[in-house]
Amino acid sequence: MAPLHEPLGDRLRREPRVWLVTGAAGFIGSNLVHHLLALGQRVVGLDNFATGHRRNLGGLPERAFRFIEGDIRELAVCRAACEGVDHVLHQAALGSVPRSLKDPLLSHQANVDGMVNMLLAARDAKVRRFVYASSSSVYGDHPALPKVEENIGKPLSPYAATKRVDEIYGRIFLDAYGLETIGMRYFNVFGRRQDPEGPYAAVIPKWTAALLWGKPCVIYGDGETSRDFCYVENVIQANLLAALAESSSGAVGEVFNIAVGARTTLNELFRMIRERLARSEPPLASVEPRYEGFRPGDIRHSEADIGKARRLLGYEPTHTAAQGLDETMEWYVATARSTAA
Ligand SMILES: NC(=O)c1ccc[n+]([C@@H]2O[C@H](COP(=O)([O-])OP(=O)(O)OC[C@H]3O[C@@H](n4cnc5c(N)ncnc54)[C@H](O)[C@@H]3O)[C@@H](O)[C@H]2O)c1
Repeated sequence: MAPLHEPLGDRLRREPRVWLVTGAAGFIGSNLVHHLLALGQRVVGLDNFATGHRRNLGGLPERAFRFIEGDIRELAVCRAACEGVDHVLHQAALGSVPRSLKDPLLSHQANVDGMVNMLLAARDAKVRRFVYASSSSVYGDHPALPKVEENIGKPLSPYAATKRVDEIYGRIFLDAYGLETIGMRYFNVFGRRQDPEGPYAAVIPKWTAALLWGKPCVIYGDGETSRDFCYVENVIQANLLAALAESSSGAVGEVFNIAVGARTTLNELFRMIRERLARSEPPLASVEPRYEGFRPGDIRHSEADIGKARRLLGYEPTHTAAQGLDETMEWYVATARSTAA
């Protein structure tokens, strides 16, 4: 057994595994793929490009990476992808609360039917660990802050409902079939390869692009809405820890908040982005956001208690929101400029 203090990366380099990353062409999935390959792992990627991009998978070593273009709504595709795999990191889903309000059936099919297909395929392929993406949206209307895993409220959107159902299935597949599942309740994740385009783009790439293009940055509500913005490096760490946790660690079958454990308001976030951009574009320092009405289904405040992930997974975020922005702002700027060109 590896010594407890051995860094994850060293352990993986010493004992390489085969990983399946679903949603591999998406933001979080592609970050996981690149990271695993850099650690000398063999990786299978699955994606249907519903929201992901081929460019996210550019420059990967063919020797260690196999890509399957396919849909998790098809069980046969999931079975083919799971063949010979040790660990599944299931990221594929249709994100975004507004998207799910517009088309709840589509979100359900990708997020719930797709998850059950993946669980079945992983179970039958005797996968060692199935780590899956849930979401802080499952806290719904529960008012307590910070958010603790056991205290969830009423889901406020079809998206939140799909993620809650995923968690229930995750547990059922452990209890009924012995498939070792662990759920990651991500809070607003950001970082390189986050999609800056489309109506459901996340706030950081959207505002960066808007500021650079001289377009309005829209804040829904009064700007005092807050989120626990989590840099993608923290998410990568959490996935690896969950995949490698001992079966006896108490983590199996559980769900974990994955975040920083701090709160940033949208007004603060706007100022953080503006300040970083103004270092190279001084006129941006005086730009103000435009305020519009609150969006239906949005929760007011979100901040994670990450004590459970610390205790059972050994998770320790390496980046605050500000440190993550510092690391990634250059990428956001380059991407915004190239999409404008
Ligand atoms: N980014 C966040 O802040 C955040 C927060 C909470 C939860 N999550 C969850 O994390 C996961 C990854 O999110 P992301 O931000 O990387 O989103 P993303 O849209 O960038 O990635 C999702 C990927 O899944 C793929 N996909 C969707 N439907 C599919 C299908 N039917 N078959 C195969 N592939 C399919 C998409 O093409 C895309 O590449 C999702 O499950 C999402 O719900 C993300």
